[in-house]
Amino acid sequence: MAKKNDDFFKQKKPWSEVKDELLGCYLKPYMQKILYTKHPVVYVDCFAGKGAFEDGKPGSPLIALNTMQECIGQTKIDGWSIQPNFIDLNYANDLHKNLAGYGDITIISGRYEDKIENLLLNKANCNVFLYIDPYGIKALNYRLFQDFATKYSFYSIELLINMNSFGFIREGCRVLGVSFDSSDIFEDLIEYESTKLDTNEKSVETLNEIAGGDYWQDIIKSKNRNEISVYEAESLFSEQYCERLRENYSYVLNMPLKIKKGQVPKYRMIHATNHVDGCLLMVNNICNRWQFMKDIQNNGQQLLFEENYNNETVDMADITQKAITVFQQAKEFTRLNPILADFFMQNGPICKVSEIKDIIKDLEKKDKIEVRRTPAYTDKGKPSKFFADEKKQKTEIRWKR
Ligand SMILES: C[S@@+](CC[C@H](N)C(=O)[O-])C[C@H]1O[C@@H](n2cnc3c(N)ncnc32)[C@H](O)[C@@H]1O
Repeated sequence: MAKKNDDFFKQKKPWSEVKDELLGCYLKPYMQKILYTKHPVVYVDCFAGKGAFEDGKPGSPLIALNTMQECIGQTKIDGWSIQPNFIDLNYANDLHKNLAGYGDITIISGRYEDKIENLLLNKANCNVFLYIDPYGIKALNYRLFQDFATKYSFYSIELLINMNSFGFIREGCRVLGVSFDSSDIFEDLIEYESTKLDTNEKSVETLNEIAGGDYWQDIIKSKNRNEISVYEAESLFSEQYCERLRENYSYVLNMPLKIKKGQVPKYRMIHATNHVDGCLLMVNNICNRWQFMKDIQNNGQQLLFEENYNNETVDMADITQKAITVFQQAKEFTRLNPILADFFMQNGPICKVSEIKDIIKDLEKKDKIEVRRTPAYTDKGKPSKFFADEKKQKTEIRWKR
């Protein structure tokens, strides 16, 4: 069901709360870490909306600005620089009104796809964070994501993208002339300003540009041959889209947002970064937001079996086995954080980072894993016991047998 744009800001919906929480709760530790690099932070909300909802709840711009102010208030770093930017095609005036009093911010009226390159042109050596939250998929040209990672010489670049993967599959079917009846599956899946493409060669090219390749066409063709369901098509597309992003970003995670269990995700929040710490922060963030999403799906009722962010039953024995498979690759001493991130790249954010650390500790006790800490001793001459992998405390692990 397609809805008019204006309705979106009348009342903040629960799925928007989850989405914005994913942003807000990530931004705080992100800012705290990134300020230590002493390189300027450039934050861009590329589809910013009005700043606030008409029911008084904050939109993504206010959430980000409040978080930044909090971090600035707490940081001990001197000479920090954070430049917040907000782009919106329709609501620049609302943004000016709702964000007044937040000091030096930039509000740009226009299309993200027309404005972003110019905005980022002189931001070499900056830490750039882009929040990309469009209604549909049309503005998501993959070439831009590739260029951000390869052409601008940023100090770091992170993307948090709201990808309407179901919308992509629906348009893929339309463009390739494949029919499917969506009425029962997508009954509750209200979409705002959904993208509608015609059936012609140009639309095929548009979808190739969005997907960053033509791999999506095989998925639609399999769906047409009834080899896969529309659920599987959505899931396969998301997987391959994340694979595509991994060609340009080392760590890519995605969280499906489903309003009801068993439903196709309303959209997927995709996080892409080249920084291992960013990946691990986002894993914990997804696990924490899942607690909230779960309550929405189950109307606050307790589940019989614990589930993960993908509605799969949590099985600690299975997680341990998956972790062992990853650790066994560490034949030489290997830094802890990249190994943890590898686990989540292979398996998704199926549990919190601390749970994998607990598995390592247990394997250390069982003499399967050797742990090397630097510094090896505390100031008081006792053996170090930390389990961190940071600037001042390095942990490495090696599989013993
Ligand atoms: C999903 S809403 C963003 C909501 C916002 N993130 C929040 O939490 O309040 C999408 C916004 O994108 C804007 N928009 C639509 N097309 C755009 C484009 N090509 N470039 C930039 N903004 C666009 C719309 O006006 C709308 O405000």
